[in-house]
Amino acid sequence: MAHPKHIVILTGAGISAESGIDTFRDAGGLWENHPIEQVATPQAFAADPVLVHRFYNLRRAALKKVEPNAAHLALGRLQDEFDGEVTLITQNVDDLHERGGFRNVIHMHGELNSALCSACGHRWEYREDLSITSICPACQTAGGPRPDIVWFGEMPYAMNSIERAVKACDLFVSIGTSGAVYPAAGFVQLAHAYRAKTLELNLEPSQGSAMFAESRLGPATQLVPDWVAEMLD
Ligand code: OAD
Repeated sequence: MAHPKHIVILTGAGISAESGIDTFRDAGGLWENHPIEQVATPQAFAADPVLVHRFYNLRRAALKKVEPNAAHLALGRLQDEFDGEVTLITQNVDDLHERGGFRNVIHMHGELNSALCSACGHRWEYREDLSITSICPACQTAGGPRPDIVWFGEMPYAMNSIERAVKACDLFVSIGTSGAVYPAAGFVQLAHAYRAKTLELNLEPSQGSAMFAESRLGPATQLVPDWVAEMLD
């Protein structure tokens, strides 16, 4: 592959799997017997905010106990050493890319370490437990703060800048995502339509594999450092 000038990378849960964070589909889409939709929709939060807060509080606490793996670290190195532009879009709500050294990650599905006020829209960095009595620091509404996660039926963040980057890149790389959730699953087609090369790095063929010019199969901690070494060669 000739060396590109602008690489856009899309990551999913598979890149964090070897750090010890369960992927969605591998966990069977269930949490304590609740279908994931029961804790990941605005309706679920309205119906049972205590349950939804508990789910995300547990996930936020678990994040403090895991470390970035060789794949996260390799992408941090790519950003530092690549002679061109690298844009990283992640569907993950963990902070392992940042801890792996990547700056300005686009978190299209939100972040566990961030809170969002449902009363005034304020978003702020927040690393502790949230509850139904938490107070928004901007508008002082008690019970306003919610996890800053893009739930099913909500609009992902930064779609305009993502679309611009995907159209402008000359290499689009998808890492550790099942290609089951739109709009992220459609980025490969957009990149292809704008003449970028497309590469998938995943443990197994994903739902979107056929749309990629090249697919490499294996664990992210092997595939990603190898690919980064090629890009820096
Ligand atoms: P999925 O759980 O759907 O897919 C994870 C993918 O990673 C699968 O294709 C696995 O084969 C692959 N995988 C697992 N272990 C791997 C490893 N060690 N190395 C490489 N690949 C590996 O997760 P996502 O595609 O991220 O949305 O899911 C997309 C969205 O669906 C999530 O962001 C979430 C969920 O609903 C929201 O929370 C809004």
